[in-house]
Amino acid sequence: MTARSTAVPAIRVQGLERSYGTLEVLRGVDFDVAPGTVFALLGSNGSGKTTTVRILATLLEPDAGTAVVNGFDVATQPARVRESFSHAGQFAAVDDILSGRENLVLIARLLHLTDPGAIADDLLDRFSLTGAGARKVSTYSGGMRRRLDIAMSLVGNPPVIFLDEPTTGLDPEGRIEVWQTVKELAGHGATILLTTQYLDEAEQLADRIAILHQGGSSRTAPCPNSGSASRPPRSSTSRNSRPWRRSSSRSSAATTKPPPPRTRRERG
Ligand SMILES: Nc1ncnc2c1ncn2[C@@H]1O[C@H](COP(=O)(O)OP(=O)(O)OP(=O)(O)O)[C@@H](O)[C@H]1O
Ligand SMILES: [Mg+2]
Repeated sequence: MTARSTAVPAIRVQGLERSYGTLEVLRGVDFDVAPGTVFALLGSNGSGKTTTVRILATLLEPDAGTAVVNGFDVATQPARVRESFSHAGQFAAVDDILSGRENLVLIARLLHLTDPGAIADDLLDRFSLTGAGARKVSTYSGGMRRRLDIAMSLVGNPPVIFLDEPTTGLDPEGRIEVWQTVKELAGHGATILLTTQYLDEAEQLADRIAILHQGGSSRTAPCPNSGSASRPPRSSTSRNSRPWRRSSSRSSAATTKPPPPRTRRERG
C-alpha cells in the first residue's frame, strides 16, 4: 500500500443505494478515491455510473449510504460539495453559438474570476484549441467539443472533477484526443473520477478502477501489479464472462481491478 492510498480520500462512497421505482440500480456501492489520483468507474450501459456521479454531484439523493466529496457530505453539506467539484456530464454542455473562447470566458465570468480572458486563453493553449478558439463551437469536431467541455471543467481550479463517459460517441481519434486532455488534467493534481464503458480507457487513464456490476455492487482493490497490463481478475460474484468493453465488445458483470502503470504523468 502506497503513501497516497493512505491519504484522506478526496471522495468516499459507502453503502450507496439508489432505486428508480422498483428498479434497484445501486445496491451498496463502496469506493474511495485518493487525492490527486484518477479513478475509473467502469460499467456497462445501465450499470449506474451516471446515477453514482449524479449523487456525488448533489443532483440526486441516495436512498441509503453516504458520499463525501472533498471532506463534505453530499447529504448534509451540499453547498460545500458543490464548491468542490466540476462536472462534465455524459453529453458535452457547450454552447454551440459561442466560440470556444467565449464559452470559457462565460464560465469564468459566472464564477466571478478575475481576468476571464486570460483564463480562457491559458486553457485553450493547454488543450490545443488556440487555433480554433475564435470559431463557433458548432464547427468543432466531437473530440474538440469534448476537449472544450473538459477544459471548461478546469475553470476555477476545482479540486475534484467528475467526467461522465468523456469519450462515449467519439471516434478513435477523438477518444485519443480526450485521453490526452484527461492526462493533462491529471497532471495538474486534480482528483478525477471518470466513468467509462471501456476497459482500455480505464487502463489508459486511471490509477484505480472499480467495476459497477449488476445492481451496482462495487469494490476497490489496492494496486499491486502496477507493471502488469494483464486483464483484471474475475470476481467471485461475476456471472458473465466480461464485465466491460474493450473498445467495442459489450458486456455486464463486475469486479474491481488493480490499475495499470501510470507511464506518462508526474503527480505533484
Ligand atoms: N430518472 C430515471 N428514472 C428511471 N430510471 C432511470 C432514471 N435514470 C436512470 N434510470 C435507469 O437506471 C439505470 C442506471 O442508469 P444510469 O444512467 O445510472 O446508467 P449508466 O451506467 O450511466 O449507463 P450508460 O452507460 O448507458 O450511460 C438504467 O436502467 C436507467 O434506465
Ligand atoms: Mg451514463
